[in-house]
Amino acid sequence: MVNPGDIFAKVNIPPQKVTIFLNGTAIEADLGETILSVLIRVGHQKIRLSSKTRDWRGFYCGMGSCFECLVCVDGIPNVRACITPISAGMQVILGDQLDR
Ligand code: FES
Repeated sequence: MVNPGDIFAKVNIPPQKVTIFLNGTAIEADLGETILSVLIRVGHQKIRLSSKTRDWRGFYCGMGSCFECLVCVDGIPNVRACITPISAGMQVILGDQLDR
């Protein structure tokens, strides 16, 4: 039994599973996750290509400041993966975001 005054009590609410698509591949994720947390969990470290050097880039700050995690979401380019929550059926494209 949880004490109503215990603000640090754990709440066990099972996450709602949704499917998103990373470069066309279906991936199951928990509603409430960010795109970046899904990418990290499935092992995607290469997120976008540098428009200058054509080298792959990964995330850096994880909090919306550096713009290293840009992805294309449902046709919208240059979306920061680290601050964008997933939604069911979301289409995420990794790669050449700054050149679109
Ligand atoms: S990782 Fe820095 S803005 Fe997303």
